[in-house]
Amino acid sequence: MRLAADADLAPFNTLRIPARARVMAQVDHWYEIERVLSDPRLRDLPCLVLGEGSNVLFRDDYPGLVLRIANRGRDVLDVGADGRVLVRVAAGENWHGLVLWTASRGLWGIENLALIPGTCGAAPIQNIGAYGAQLSDSLVSVRALDRTRGTWRDFDAQACRLGYRTSRFREDPDNRWCITEILLALETDGRPRLGYPGVAASLDALEAETIGPADMAAAISGIRQRKLPNPRVTPNCGSFFKNPVVAAATAEQLRGRSPSCPCHPAGEGLVKLSAAWLIDQCGLKGQRVGGAAVSDRHALVLINSGGATGKDVWQLALDVQARVFDRFGIRLEPEPQIV
Ligand code: FAD
Ligand code: EPU
Repeated sequence: MRLAADADLAPFNTLRIPARARVMAQVDHWYEIERVLSDPRLRDLPCLVLGEGSNVLFRDDYPGLVLRIANRGRDVLDVGADGRVLVRVAAGENWHGLVLWTASRGLWGIENLALIPGTCGAAPIQNIGAYGAQLSDSLVSVRALDRTRGTWRDFDAQACRLGYRTSRFREDPDNRWCITEILLALETDGRPRLGYPGVAASLDALEAETIGPADMAAAISGIRQRKLPNPRVTPNCGSFFKNPVVAAATAEQLRGRSPSCPCHPAGEGLVKLSAAWLIDQCGLKGQRVGGAAVSDRHALVLINSGGATGKDVWQLALDVQARVFDRFGIRLEPEPQIV
């Protein structure tokens, strides 16, 4: 375990916002978490659990304890006769590293989630999703510490209440849960998921029956590298807003005015719109506040183009929200946790 007072958070968030934490504790083993949280110097401070900081915006300094989860370990627990393989992963493992590891063993299930930044422990928080797959397709259970009671709990997938960019871990107040481990069920006998626009075309050179999970992970990584700014070069936190889910009648009206508006069914009477399209239609690519800008490459990504503060990024987000609301009457909701 490593403790630091007045810690610089810039290296620990992918927007590279120069915020500070009153205290930061990095825990390398699950059992250190209880020790940190019961330490009389720390236990009464507000607490933020952090992975790799790829889905947070520090609007300000953090007046409490930032608990960085860095425990490691991944094992195959069980290989069933039906080809179902249980994989247990520590929360501090890098997600993309896990995808490469499982795909290289011929295991199907999470290959379409390649190159999503962050830790495995953060993956259930918003039920990470991309290219026609989401964590909930493969998640069996989550082990978490209830910080308010100091007790451990195992959640099966249903109890996690996973939805589009949401879960109980995100909705319960006070950053209550600290996830230390996840359990996934993968398959030795799977099929490539090619339905998302552009995915099938990127695998054109391969015969469908020869495509393996590692090919899928490589193809998805290629698409993502072409589409999204690389956070190591251009600091960002991925999509800044969720895609809005609206009543079918609202989407119908919008389609009437703008036939090119992308719409996807999202359950009974509901339609998911594209936040990127709404922002792009408002002409906001390149829009700036201080060092923050709407990416020229993808309208849903806010970038730190140099020297941005958390307040710059937040003001830009409010400006984008207001412009989209004025033009379309649709309220965009931020995806990252705003601290
Ligand atoms: P952090 O940013 O550190 O934390 C995010 C939230 O999770 C915070 O609320 C934090 O308190 C909480 N948290 C983190 N770890 C734990 C834990 N162990 N226990 C309890 N709470 C915890 N997301 C997608 O879903 N799909 C995408 O395609 C996608 N693409 C992205 C592309 C880019 C370039 C970037 C920068 C981000 C993208 N994201 C995407 C968002 C991000 O990668 C995911 O949300 C990821 O799961 C965040 O992991 P993290 O470890 O960085 O979490
Ligand atoms: N579009 C524009 N302008 C742009 C970019 C995109 O009009 O600048 C339009 C495209 O034409 C397309 C639509 O927006 O019709 C959707 O674009 P894209 O396929 O890039 O997907 P997205 O809806 O913007 C979502 C997720 C991503 C995920 C991709 C792929 C959300 C909030 N975002 O983006 O997740 O990788 O789909 O599945 O759901 C993230 O959460 O951080 C993230 C990157």
